[in-house]
Amino acid sequence: MTMHRVVVRSSGLFVPPDTITNSELVQAFNRYADLENERQAARIAGGECEAIAHSSVEFIEKASGIRQRHVMDKSGVLDPGRMRPRFQPRPDAALSMMAEIAVSAAGDALSRAGRCSQDVDGVICAAANMQRAYPAMAIEIQQALGIQGFAFDMNVACSSATFAIEQAYNAVRCGAARAILIVNPEITSPHLAWKDRDCHFIFGDVCTAILVERLDASAGGGFEILGTRLQTVFSSHIRNNAGFMSRSEDRQPDDRDQLFYQEGRMVFKEVCPMAAAHITGHLESLGHAPGSVQRFWLHQANLGMNQLIARKLLGREATTTEAPIILDEFGNTASAGSIIAFHRHHEDLASGALGVICSFGAGYSIGSVVLQRV
Ligand code: COA
Repeated sequence: MTMHRVVVRSSGLFVPPDTITNSELVQAFNRYADLENERQAARIAGGECEAIAHSSVEFIEKASGIRQRHVMDKSGVLDPGRMRPRFQPRPDAALSMMAEIAVSAAGDALSRAGRCSQDVDGVICAAANMQRAYPAMAIEIQQALGIQGFAFDMNVACSSATFAIEQAYNAVRCGAARAILIVNPEITSPHLAWKDRDCHFIFGDVCTAILVERLDASAGGGFEILGTRLQTVFSSHIRNNAGFMSRSEDRQPDDRDQLFYQEGRMVFKEVCPMAAAHITGHLESLGHAPGSVQRFWLHQANLGMNQLIARKLLGREATTTEAPIILDEFGNTASAGSIIAFHRHHEDLASGALGVICSFGAGYSIGSVVLQRV
C-alpha cells in the first residue's frame, strides 16, 4: 500500500457574537448569590445551609488567566434569575446551532486553503458535547457543505480535536480519503454550572475547523504531520454524568452532577506532568527534543498549567511566542483551544520549523500532533 505524506493544510475559526467580561460575570453571579441568600435567609440563620459566597474578578484572573469569554447567548447567562444561556429550539428542517457554527468555521478553513467541498472526502465533528444523540452532527454538516463520502461524530472531551487529527491523518495517509475536514463546534456554555463560583468562569463557546490533506496536493502550503500520539488514563476528576439514562434515573437537568464538575487542584497536579512527559516522549520517538520546537500550541484551560508544562519541557519559562496563550480572550473552549492557538499563531513560522499541538483534559485524555512547516 502506498502511504501518503499528510499536511494540516489550513484552519478556520468561528467566534460567537457575544462576549462576557469577568466583571460582567462576577456582577451577575454576586447578584444571583445575594438573591438566593435572601430567599434562604431563615435556613442560613438556622444553620441548615450555608450562604453562597461572592465571586471575584481578582481570583479568576489570578487562578486561571481568563479575562473574558465568547458565548452564543449572553443575556440568559447574566440573568440572575436564570444563570444559563437561552436558546430557541429549532425545527428539524433548520440547521442546528452546532452545525451552523461548524459550517462557518469550515468555510473559513476551506477558503484559506483555496479548496471547495469537492476536494474533501469526509467530515469529522469532534467536540466535548454533542447537541443530540443522532443523526450525527457531522452528517448534517457534511450535507450543509455539499461534501460527498462519509461523516461521523466523536467525543474525547478536551482532546476531541487532536484525537480527530489522528483519525484524519490515518485516513489520508493510507489513501482512504484525499482530504478530511475536522470541525470542533464547542458550545460549552449550556453544560457549565454558572451558579458555582468554583467553575463559573472557566468555559467559552467557539468553533474551529482543520483541513487535513495529502502533502502532494497541498502545493507547498501547510504543516506536515510528522506524527500523532494519543493517551488515555481513567479519572473522575473532570466529569459530567448527564446522558440518555438521566431521565430514567429521575434526574433534573440542573442537578449538580448533570453539569461539568471537577477537582481542579487534582487535575492541575496530575495532568501537567502527564502532558509534559507525553510531549517529550512523542518528540523523542521522532528524533526531536523539546528544545528544537519553535512553537507549542497547548490546550487552553489555565494559564498556570500552560506555564508549568512549558517549564517542564524547556527547563525555563517559555515566552508567549513559544507557547501562545488565547485563553485570556476565549476561556477554556474544550478541544478547540489548542486549535485556536494554532490558527492565530502559525503564520510567522519559517519552512522547516517544528511545532506541537497538545490537548489534555477529561478522561484523562492527552493527544499530541507534531508538525513541521512545509
Ligand atoms: N472567586 C473567589 N474565590 C473563589 C472563587 C471565585 N470565583 N472560586 C473559588 N474560590 C476560593 C475557593 O473557595 C478557595 O477558598 P478556600 O481556600 O477558603 O477553600 C480558594 O478560592 C482557592 O480555590 P481553589 O479551587 O483551590 O483554586 P485554584 O487555585 O485551584 O484554582 C482552578 C481553581 C479551577 C482555576 C484551577 O484549579 C484549575 O484551573 N485547575 C485545572 C483544571 C482545568 O483546567 N480543568 C478544565 C478541564 S480541561
